[in-house]
Amino acid sequence: MVKVTFVAADGSETSVEGEEGASVMQTAVANDVEGIVGECGGSMMCATCHCYVDDAWISKTGERQHDEDDMLEGAASEVRETSRLSCQIKLDQSLDGLVVHLPDEQF
Ligand code: FES
Repeated sequence: MVKVTFVAADGSETSVEGEEGASVMQTAVANDVEGIVGECGGSMMCATCHCYVDDAWISKTGERQHDEDDMLEGAASEVRETSRLSCQIKLDQSLDGLVVHLPDEQF
C-alpha cells in the first residue's frame, strides 16, 4: 500500500492508503476524500481531479503531459507550476508518503 496525504484548501489533512497501480484520483474517490471528484473516471475529460503536488514530491511524480495542460486550461481553480490531474499520477512505492494539495473548487 502507498500512503497519500491530501491537504484541503483550508489546511485540513486526510491520509489514506492506496493500492499500487491505482491513481491518486482513484485513491481519493475510494476513500471519500472531499475535493477530488474524478467525474470522468480518469479519462482526462473533466479536470475535476485537479491537485497541486507538494513541492517535496514534484520530482517523483514527474512532469505533467501536454494533454494534461490542455485539460487544465478548463480547471475551475488557478493552475500552478505544480498542478496535475490526479488521475494521471499512478501510485508505486516510490510515492509512499506523497502529499498533494487540493484546490478550493473543482467546478
Ligand atoms: S478524473 Fe477526469 S480528468 Fe482526471
